[in-house]
Amino acid sequence: MISLGVLISGSGTNLQSIMDAIERKSLTARINIVISNRRDAFGLDRAKRKNIPAICIPHTEFPTRESHEKRIIKELEENGVEVVILAGYMRIITKYFVSAYKNKILNIHPALLPSFKGTHAQEKATTYGVKITGATVHFVDEEMDHGPIIIQGAIPISPFLSPDEVAAKILTIEHRIYPQAIEWLSQGRLEILGNKVILHGSQPLADISDIMPCLISPSLEDGF
Ligand code: GRF
Repeated sequence: MISLGVLISGSGTNLQSIMDAIERKSLTARINIVISNRRDAFGLDRAKRKNIPAICIPHTEFPTRESHEKRIIKELEENGVEVVILAGYMRIITKYFVSAYKNKILNIHPALLPSFKGTHAQEKATTYGVKITGATVHFVDEEMDHGPIIIQGAIPISPFLSPDEVAAKILTIEHRIYPQAIEWLSQGRLEILGNKVILHGSQPLADISDIMPCLISPSLEDGF
């Protein structure tokens, strides 16, 4: 069982989906600590309700990005965290953090990378007029919204949807693919080969999620 440290900045619905997956035993992992950089992050309350240690380390109280990260890493290490889950953590991670947890940091981005990197990805996709968008779970490397992709989930979108409506649809996908990606990691089934991630240990054609780490909603709704 892997020990997770979850970093958040806001509402924490992805954190909730991970806690729920652990509770219903579809994810074999333990959340050792939740850390927010913002005091008002509702995700802190979600964690406390489940008796998971949850603390705030405000970035505003540190002179540099690195000194803030140093404090976070200290907390992660003291709590025996093996894998860091960025779940709506709205801070850029430095090389220092990435090297401290090399290939052990996961992020979720609300777009089909490499499209629409950075903030407001859902709005950018809506404004651009794409017909399909979605979410991506990837290993974190030194570049923002970059790094080997573990799984992507896609949804068709209509031109009549607002950015908020698109964001809500993407969130439902996020809540399905993030626990799935963490479970694969926990099972030791992910291998990084250059910029690609290989999913090991599946029987050929046994399970759509095993042969194709992508989810297209709603047509493959029951694929996971
Ligand atoms: C999600 O859309 C996530 O992809 C992005 O920030 C949002 C956070 O949502 N990085 P939540 O805090 O998990 O509800």
